Amino acid sequence: MAEADLVIRRARLLTLAPLKDEKPRVGAAAGDVGAIDGGWLASRDGVIVATGRGDAWHDLERTPEAIEVDAEGRVVMPGFVDSHTHLCYAGQRWDEFVTRRSGADYLAVLERGGGIHATVRATRETSDDDLLALIRRRLARAIALGTTTIEVKSGYGLEPAEELRQLRVIAAAAKGTRIDVAVTYLALHALPAARADDRRGFVREAAQAVRTVADEGLAEAVDAFVENGVFDVEDVRPLAKAASEAGLALTLHADQLNDVGATAFAARAHARSADHVANASAEGLRALARAAIPAVLLPGSAFFVGYAPPDARRFLAAEVPIAIATDHNPGTSPLEGLPTAIALGVVLCGLTPHEAIVAATINGAHALGRGGRTGALIKGRRADVVVLDTDDERELAYRLGGPIVREVYAAGTRVAANGPAVYR
Ligand code: NIG
Ligand code: FE
Repeated sequence: MAEADLVIRRARLLTLAPLKDEKPRVGAAAGDVGAIDGGWLASRDGVIVATGRGDAWHDLERTPEAIEVDAEGRVVMPGFVDSHTHLCYAGQRWDEFVTRRSGADYLAVLERGGGIHATVRATRETSDDDLLALIRRRLARAIALGTTTIEVKSGYGLEPAEELRQLRVIAAAAKGTRIDVAVTYLALHALPAARADDRRGFVREAAQAVRTVADEGLAEAVDAFVENGVFDVEDVRPLAKAASEAGLALTLHADQLNDVGATAFAARAHARSADHVANASAEGLRALARAAIPAVLLPGSAFFVGYAPPDARRFLAAEVPIAIATDHNPGTSPLEGLPTAIALGVVLCGLTPHEAIVAATINGAHALGRGGRTGALIKGRRADVVVLDTDDERELAYRLGGPIVREVYAAGTRVAANGPAVYR
């Protein structure tokens, strides 16, 4: 075995090891975290080389500068996978938030030129350097909360030229971090007011931009907001076709506020994931299950906007793999970090704590096409690891908002160390 340069020992180790072959977890595997008490793991050059139980870690060969972590009394688990975020934005929407709390409807605000359009205006006016600084700051906060793989969408540019600028800024931010960033071109987020009479033309241009995005390697997936009064399934067709021709994956904001048939369409179009899905039909669920496509539940937005959250039990009963993510964005979900998303997934969506952990790790990895790379602590996977400040992982769903992530390793490198709070 290769000499280890990182050894984490005496842990309650959640391996998330597959029961059989590696595929999105459903059925009994949907709640199996593969716990090993008195477990250890060793990695070398960012890749896990061995895991085990008991004292065998003593015998591991180590490099001279190897890092040793004694995790007695702590849970050690895969780094979180945040499979749906909109980190690339400027400005805030506090006024809109207050208006909506007093009853204004999310889609009505959007229709009047607020909502997403307000963030589009603020983001367009922000220079590359300032936008880069904002994204970096948000990535740093996500890392401190245990995220080691994160999806980042564009979507606050709307017009393709501005979307491309934002994707280039995201690429610059992705290059400078050790965590794994999966970039998505959110091509159809809202129709610019200036294009109100030319929806199909706008969609055509967005679909054309997919080729440039692919040629420049700016994103690995394409996304659209499919919703009443925003874009419909017909609008998404040319986009899905362009994505498939360019070799990019498809993911959709599907049936978030209304059932518009987007979940079933996502399955038919072989999407990588169908996200939100709070109002997905039974047919949509059956289609996802058949195609083994993860549904990404985003309870932060249901909580913050105040609509009925997706019922996880429906999805589990239909054998749909479930991922859970923050949906971090300035409009519907200012939520940061998976620990609180897990708590919301348990309390609002009806997941068990273990199901929520599967959803925030290995199934999130599957939702990003990375199920063979991260999300589990087994030989050959990236050494993406968090050490929790608890000996019982169910506390992730329970210590609501309190700091619970102590240390974070991305590909074997320590990227965050949060000391305990000090009383003085
Ligand atoms: O995932 N609903 C569409 N997109 C985002 C929100 C965007 C916004 O309001 O700025 C979401 O909820
Ligand atoms: Fe979203």
